[in-house]
Amino acid sequence: MTTLTIDGRTVTVEPGATILDAARAAGIDVPTLCWYPKLPVVGSCRICLVGVQGSPKLVPACATPVQDAMTVETESAAVRANRRSVLALLLERYPADGLGQRLDAARGDGHLLNEFERYLLRFDVPVPAGVARALPLRTGDARPGDPMIQHDMSTCILCTRCVRACADIQQVGVLDVALRGEHAEIVVGGDGDPDKAACTWCGECVRVCPTGAIYEVLPLDRFTKREVAEAEGAVRTVCPYCGVGCQIDVHVKDERIVRVTSPWIEEDTPNIGSTCVKGRFGYDFPQHRDRLTRPLIRKSWTKREGRWVHEGPTEAGRRRGPWLTIDEEGDRPKPRPPERSVGKPLTALSHVPRGPDDVRDRVATPAAWYEPFREATWEEALELTAQELTRIHAEKASDALAVFCSAKCTNEENYVLQRTFRGAFHTNNVDHCTRLCHSSSVAAMQRALNTSAASGSMREVEHEADVIFISGANVTEAHPVFGAAIKRAHARGATLIVADTRRIELAKRADIHLYLQPGTDVALYNAMLRHILKRGLHDQAFIDARTKGFADVAAAVEPYTLERAETITGVPAALIARAAETYAKGPRTSTLWAMGLTQHATGTDIVASLLNLILCTGMIGRWGAAMIPIRGQNNVQGASDVGAIPMVYTDYQPVSDPAVRAKFAAAWGVSAESLSLKPGLRVTEIVSRGSPVRGMYIYGENPVISDPDVAHAEEWFEHLEFLAVHDLFLTETARLADVVLPGSSFAEKDGTFVNTERRIQRVRKALDPPGDARSDLEILVALSQRVGLPAPFPDAAAVMREIAKVTPSWAGVTYDRLDFAGVQYPIPDAASPGTAFLFADRFPTADGKGTLVPVEYLPPAELPTEEYPYLMNTGRQLYHWHTGTMTRRSKGLDAREPVPTAEINPEDAAAMGVRDGDTLRVTSRRNAMLIAARVSDRVKRRQVFVPFHFREAAANLLTNPALDPYAKIPEFKVCAVRVEPAD
Ligand code: SF4
Ligand code: SF4
Ligand code: FES
Repeated sequence: MTTLTIDGRTVTVEPGATILDAARAAGIDVPTLCWYPKLPVVGSCRICLVGVQGSPKLVPACATPVQDAMTVETESAAVRANRRSVLALLLERYPADGLGQRLDAARGDGHLLNEFERYLLRFDVPVPAGVARALPLRTGDARPGDPMIQHDMSTCILCTRCVRACADIQQVGVLDVALRGEHAEIVVGGDGDPDKAACTWCGECVRVCPTGAIYEVLPLDRFTKREVAEAEGAVRTVCPYCGVGCQIDVHVKDERIVRVTSPWIEEDTPNIGSTCVKGRFGYDFPQHRDRLTRPLIRKSWTKREGRWVHEGPTEAGRRRGPWLTIDEEGDRPKPRPPERSVGKPLTALSHVPRGPDDVRDRVATPAAWYEPFREATWEEALELTAQELTRIHAEKASDALAVFCSAKCTNEENYVLQRTFRGAFHTNNVDHCTRLCHSSSVAAMQRALNTSAASGSMREVEHEADVIFISGANVTEAHPVFGAAIKRAHARGATLIVADTRRIELAKRADIHLYLQPGTDVALYNAMLRHILKRGLHDQAFIDARTKGFADVAAAVEPYTLERAETITGVPAALIARAAETYAKGPRTSTLWAMGLTQHATGTDIVASLLNLILCTGMIGRWGAAMIPIRGQNNVQGASDVGAIPMVYTDYQPVSDPAVRAKFAAAWGVSAESLSLKPGLRVTEIVSRGSPVRGMYIYGENPVISDPDVAHAEEWFEHLEFLAVHDLFLTETARLADVVLPGSSFAEKDGTFVNTERRIQRVRKALDPPGDARSDLEILVALSQRVGLPAPFPDAAAVMREIAKVTPSWAGVTYDRLDFAGVQYPIPDAASPGTAFLFADRFPTADGKGTLVPVEYLPPAELPTEEYPYLMNTGRQLYHWHTGTMTRRSKGLDAREPVPTAEINPEDAAAMGVRDGDTLRVTSRRNAMLIAARVSDRVKRRQVFVPFHFREAAANLLTNPALDPYAKIPEFKVCAVRVEPAD
């Protein structure tokens, strides 16, 4: 350790620390401009100069290492004079208009000033009265017309924080310093085009800029600059999009969200100060004009003699309305998408033409969708919902009711909702969209390890893993903040292996890209394991001590020679061998996967074969060797943890176990016999021909877009006897409802979410729901009371107290414990600090061992034929989220991707005479639709990628509803299609 004296105080720091580090550790505030935590030090602005005894000159605190017995002065006259002269020099090229008045007005707390201006105030730098300048104001690239980020480079002080943040934190490198000396300026790529320079619109540059030269545009649409600056104190909460669980600060003015910022980079949050484009700029949907503010009841319901009666047709068609079905919309002509800005200044881009079919009007709720409904009171809406759910339960079997919980909503809300259906209606028909994403991971992990969550943390992947193996996960688009962490890990020297059917960004960066044919993963992992065994690279000690079933797996992989795997997967044998050896040698290999693996009719087998690879190489249970199924939605992990799945209560305690049942019955105040021991139906069984379900409550999900083969799903919903939908908007599912209950967005509620690394984090209310919309928890508690199950929960904290009582691995959770960074469960008691990584010594199985499960490769349910020669894959885009309900109502995000497009290989496009933006007809065995072409080398020949966010070209019209036999997850990722020009 090194000990020095700063301003008379003795400070001890690690060797290698700088004077600035030491001063900060001692709480001494040395001003900085070019320095920023975690960015490379450039030492260029000179505002941090300090005096060091014995040194003839002042030295930069940010760039000078400490030495033992050093004596430093940070507030001497010379130091202060230097700061004033540095600031005065910068001020010479800074817009002076109104600055003096702003400084006067802000004297006191400096609240309305930017970081640079606060220094002017702090060091009392005089503002020149005139505008006679030796040098002109700075210039630079402006991003004109950009929907989210623009530049006013006249206020740039050339600190280069933005350049370094983009390059080092985001690992993108869009920004640069062009020219030299007095002409130096910040530019965007080589030609001012952020698209061409691969900008991801993450807003990191906005965050670090000390002057607002790089600024966000969206708040200025609705607020003045002053209102933005004056927004009331920010409320810390969690982003509503992916499973990374970024913490964000929501700034509010007059019950409207002004903007979102991220926590300080040095705070211990999962996102360490970053967000992606959705988190930073996708916050305006709660205030979209389509927001439901009053309950709606279908006009065919009337109250007569104290009971609600439905008057009119009762069968198919009664849920129809004056709108096109998803099927009909798919077949409608589409406008061309806006040209990508590659190689062009944004101002020269064409715009999507406005017209009666303009997609930007159609993404908002069309007026005709409201026609079958009338506005209702809460009393009416809840009374009708309770009456019909109770009636169906009484008249038919318990299995006639089902509920979809929501991976977008809090643990507390999901807990109360599953409790209502189990406790009051005696059914386990409780599920949510986990069925459509990671249910096969859960099935395979439960079978092998008796666990359902990640073993480790994102931080260990970033800082410790030597090898990162990513399979079927487009992390930089679907989980961009984790994607940036992986890129940083790669930059520090970790080896990156990516197994993916597309050349996604991480595949292009990877040391090894296993560019495999869709659905051939089992053959790949089996061959990798066989090669590892042949080379003796497996971890025999781990296998012996921690697993069982090795002999069977070793025998099962024997036929999977590298050559056979090459034939099946299309990946060269030598590359498979190299990947296998790199994986096994680690020494710490982290394994990540997502829906590219799970959404197959053989999804459980695919994950099982990957788990065999992990276990036979011992790549689990050590810091740096993490197993992470990357969770898709903000709270898909939590919703599953608190029992929103059909076969288990909280903590995956089986509904079929009488002892478990007795525990929950006691907690809920019902008789044990009233709780069903029969596991319920899954999403894909509920929405199917022959399903017994006649009445449903759907909370924050949109299955009419997200289910496979949606034309049939939509028809199925039309035949229900009763449907209540609880949502923010009149979605494609809600328009079929009898009752629509307007709930609260992420910013309007209290509770908790669980991220992909088991971190339970607090969600905090920043504003009230609009109009008569209500807090989701209030609605769900009211419903529970009405259907006869007491729900004594005055607030979310009370719900968490009950969850903690019945959930062993959450037993130590209280809201106080979760401030500020959240805690990773298991948290077995109040003293537990949480668990960053699991399975160091044993797995949570009866004998502590993991089970290796032999798996055979089976081809996808549909393979190309002469009639359907292409393979279609579905997934997400960077700017959109699931069924687009939120992101397509976010102005900036929608501006980036306003139109559905299908990625198609350039050679296929050329062979068909199709150019970028031309309309394609894509036809599967189930349906056909029109969609614009995006010509892209990311997809292989004879493959096509269709995002699933768009109603007007719903990928799920085409997908195959074939189900995995264990997890009942559909085969979203592979179906055979025909692709042809539309005209
Ligand atoms: S938005 Fe992100 S990627 Fe784009 S220039 Fe800024 S930091 Fe770089
Ligand atoms: S734009 Fe902002 S962050 Fe970038 S160099 Fe200029 S002042 Fe610094
Ligand atoms: S902050 Fe130290 S030289 Fe800029």
